[in-house]
Amino acid sequence: MNERNMTQRVVLFCLFLTLAIGYIIAADNAAVEQRIDAIISQMTLQEKIGQLNQQTGQGTSEGMIKQIKSGTIGSILNETDPEVVNRLQHYAVENSRLHIPLIFARDVIHGFRTIFPIPLGQAATWNPALVEEGARIAAREAASTGIRWTFSPMVDISRDARWGRCAESSGEDPYLTEQMALAMIHGYQGDDLSQPGTMAACAKHFACYGASESGKDYNTTWIPEVLMRDVYLPPFEAAAKAGCATFMCSFNDINGVPSSGNSHLNRDILRGEWGYNGVLVSDWGSIQQMIPHGFCSDLKDAAMKGATAGVDIDMESYAYVQHLEQLVSDGKVAETVIDEMVRNVLRLKFRLGLFDNPYVDMKHANEFYAPESLEAAAKTAVESAILLKNNGLLPLRGAKKIALVGPMSNDKHNQAGTWSFDLEKERCVTPYEALTAVLGKENVIFEEGLTYSRDKNAEGIDKAVAIARDADVIVMIGGEEAVLSGEAHCRVNTTLPGAQTEMLRALKATGKPVVLIVMSGRPLAIVDEVEMADATIFMFHPGTMGGEAVARMLLGKAVPSGKLPMSMPRMSGQTPLYYSHKNTGRPASDMVLIDDIALEAGQTSTGCTSYYLDAGDGAAFPFGYGLSYSTFEYGPVTLSADNMGTDGEIIASCTITNTGKYEAAEVAQLYVRDLVGSLIRPVKELKGFEKLTLRPGESKTVKFSVKACDLGFHTLDLKKIVEPGEFHLWIAGDSASGTPITFNITE
Ligand code: GLC
Repeated sequence: MNERNMTQRVVLFCLFLTLAIGYIIAADNAAVEQRIDAIISQMTLQEKIGQLNQQTGQGTSEGMIKQIKSGTIGSILNETDPEVVNRLQHYAVENSRLHIPLIFARDVIHGFRTIFPIPLGQAATWNPALVEEGARIAAREAASTGIRWTFSPMVDISRDARWGRCAESSGEDPYLTEQMALAMIHGYQGDDLSQPGTMAACAKHFACYGASESGKDYNTTWIPEVLMRDVYLPPFEAAAKAGCATFMCSFNDINGVPSSGNSHLNRDILRGEWGYNGVLVSDWGSIQQMIPHGFCSDLKDAAMKGATAGVDIDMESYAYVQHLEQLVSDGKVAETVIDEMVRNVLRLKFRLGLFDNPYVDMKHANEFYAPESLEAAAKTAVESAILLKNNGLLPLRGAKKIALVGPMSNDKHNQAGTWSFDLEKERCVTPYEALTAVLGKENVIFEEGLTYSRDKNAEGIDKAVAIARDADVIVMIGGEEAVLSGEAHCRVNTTLPGAQTEMLRALKATGKPVVLIVMSGRPLAIVDEVEMADATIFMFHPGTMGGEAVARMLLGKAVPSGKLPMSMPRMSGQTPLYYSHKNTGRPASDMVLIDDIALEAGQTSTGCTSYYLDAGDGAAFPFGYGLSYSTFEYGPVTLSADNMGTDGEIIASCTITNTGKYEAAEVAQLYVRDLVGSLIRPVKELKGFEKLTLRPGESKTVKFSVKACDLGFHTLDLKKIVEPGEFHLWIAGDSASGTPITFNITE
């Protein structure tokens, strides 16, 4: 047989295989739908409504058991004792009339027992494979207690560091957020959600929560639908198309309509345009909160609007269990609407395999802290660390004595960060523990000085300064306590809390070299502190193995490679702040800063362009920024063509060389700008990235596919178009570097 025939046969075989697999999946789905039909046909209205009711765990309380037996609870959150899970599941499967299993859910946001860096830190790794591995580990640990549904990934775009929940996000950019979300979803769910060790993922908070006005949590959002579709929705759409099993409503209203009652968002877009058939769960009490929002008159009205808007499960409002039955009999909500909601919930239970395997395997219950899990957490913490500055001091070479000071230098609780409900802090490895384990206590002189991030005790500073005088180098580890970020924990002044800056200044005055390490839940305005230090590493709360990561980087056993997922401001007030801003008609130029303005300066003497008199313009450290112990050189960008049609593709290439002394990783980032549009376009948009490890002197060429269809945007009539015109393209190490190359999209 000649080669051509062989190729034809291989192609035909692959085609057959694809069709066969597709047929099997369709047949399997059809069989599940038939089983769902059969169950729904037997359910009373009360049992249907029970499936739509989610309550927080109460152990094996009589009330909980009674509800389960009567089928008036469909899922339980926050129960993590596998024996209790099995007992409650037994009542559902054995004692309820229709034997429908429960789903047990939990906020497993960045690890279960083995805590990984907070999601903003994971985004700083720009390493989807590593993030996926962390999610897989989290799923295995949580599922070993009976948790089969996590309320993660948070997919909200966060451009305001005042908002405490930026800690749980993947930052300011839709493309990076999408890549991180897809990694987490696959990490949690695997390829088959019915397999043990998997969890249903939950894309949250749907939608636009990160745009909460003035960076204050739960606040209103005003988002033109064009902006919603270009920036806030794309990562959610990607999650839906990737098979994310569930979505969660957001607390905020969007243009006057709370998400939990937003039919346009939940039915027109999520179900209609995206064809999503997973479960939409409310946020905690968010259906009831439509009353204080001023969108509903009472809980019955809220139940009606929530169900009408397609919110399948009511988390902790008790609106559905109290009012849906009456609303159906009043004809305000059709039972067919309830049936569809129940269908989505039962479909999830089938996907999870709960009808066949509802119980926790007690032979493998509570399995945590596998060595490979701890190592993955340490590796992720290293890769999440962003080297903001290094005057050559790092890695520490030949330092005999280290003075280790600062409120986060030995803080097992706070280095884990927000949403670490299942943290066992005694398992956390702090910088103090990791450094003394390697160097010996005699070489690490330790004095926290300030004992918590908000501490203003000047005596503590004096203690730290006193020990610093006997050291070769000072390592100050500061930042934020975990409670200063996360849900409802917003800050207007996003500088280092307490007297940390004063402490750094006093340490600097000793004349010793100073390394500043910051562990925080958000970007901070620390320009002055970075200026004072000889080297600065910024970490979003790094989790269980954060201290191990710090030691490895300080001692040169690991090289930082993190890149900022959110822009770092010069001053707190410089927010919202993001790289992909519009250019305006008067972009910043010829800035005259506040201390340089002459007395009685004329009205127009400081120029009339877009900048702040006190902060100038632009980020202190831009999106995508991060140094290494090594250095990298980017060669010229080349394109496979100078133009393409509106359905075309160009390949952009660039050779990157490690010109330093350390083997290290670099994140090559692809940015594009549409110079002229029928709606003005951002000055840059991330359209690709690749993290590559290079030995000293080694070069690699990265190639990015740039498709015209990925450069489109929505016009005022909400149609997505690709407009011909001139584009700039960069391949660089951050959003503020590189020289653009031009290409055109033609008709
Ligand atoms: C919280 C959060 C949400 C979380 C849910 C369940 O209020 O907004 O992110 O998943 O309640 O704990």
